[in-house]
Amino acid sequence: MAFSPRALSVEWVPERPGGLWPGRVRILDQTKLPAEVDFIDATTTEQVWEAIRSLRVRGAPAIGIAAAMGAAMAAGQAADRGAVTVGVLAALASAADTLSTARPTAVNLFWALDRMRCAARENSALAATELAERLAAEAQAIRDEDAAMCRAIGEHGATLLKDGDSVLTHCNAGGLATAEFGTALAPVYVAAEQGKRISVYADETRPLLQGARLTAWELMHAGVDVTLICDSMAAHVMKERRVDVVFVGADRIAANGDAANKIGTYGVALLARAHGIPFYVLAPTSTFDLATPNGAAIPIEERAAEEVTEGFGRRTAPGGVRVYSPAFDVTPAEIITGIICEKGIFPPKEAMVRRG
Ligand code: MRU
Repeated sequence: MAFSPRALSVEWVPERPGGLWPGRVRILDQTKLPAEVDFIDATTTEQVWEAIRSLRVRGAPAIGIAAAMGAAMAAGQAADRGAVTVGVLAALASAADTLSTARPTAVNLFWALDRMRCAARENSALAATELAERLAAEAQAIRDEDAAMCRAIGEHGATLLKDGDSVLTHCNAGGLATAEFGTALAPVYVAAEQGKRISVYADETRPLLQGARLTAWELMHAGVDVTLICDSMAAHVMKERRVDVVFVGADRIAANGDAANKIGTYGVALLARAHGIPFYVLAPTSTFDLATPNGAAIPIEERAAEEVTEGFGRRTAPGGVRVYSPAFDVTPAEIITGIICEKGIFPPKEAMVRRG
């Protein structure tokens, strides 16, 4: 199957020609990258839940899109089985409840599912089949709007990049983590289109190596000059003045501008501050969470010990050792140079009000 690293992290596939519903959710299995490009066709809510939980689909916007499509899929299947409107609404609600338990930190998951619940409520007067079509269209719209937001983030972010600049990034906030283009990597793609030569330092991102497995792979496929470093090398690389700017994504931005992102991001922000390097957080407004006042209120996912002690099949720590494995950390607004969303570039404390 043809694959562009800037697209197809998650896709809605109608079962029959002529309409959107019923449909299935096609997910690029990111746990197999970079060795294998393989897709899963999810046909049950549980399969979508498992794909999100086990990071087959990951990155805040892509998680939201997958969940919205999973909910639409359940609704479409109910209509296809002959359910009346109330049955379709119940299927949507039940799938949304299940999917909302897959991961706790990325607010896009909850945002996308709320949007699906809202679309269901607003269209509850429709016949079952029309409602199913409408919900599939809503999930597709969430995907398409994400692609447009990421493109706009790229346009804004690219204004900060000049020919020859070098960007450091952490984790993967590229096309794989979104519908297309990514957030932190979008300015790199746009700048490259504009003819600027931009290079990227990718932190490998322990323990699950999203930087090594995904960012390096994605950028190489796109023809971007990328250098992989271990997380512990970032300070040295900054001290050597190899980095002009840091771009990272976010899983949730609190009302005060504090931003949660992959574990290790906070450390990178501190290093950037110590070396006088600008540090930007790039995210669509679907990652902004007005209901969460500050970073301390953001729920931080803890992952299984095995991801640290025997990630990728080889034991690298003594059996029985105690492990603490938070998957995300919070960078305080005070050390974020700016937040870049589809509306523009804002000081972190103003981003929430100026997002429109
Ligand atoms: O655990 P992951 O791989 O889902 O974590 C992903 C990140 O931390 C990304 O930086 C974030 O979701 C932004 S993706 C545009």
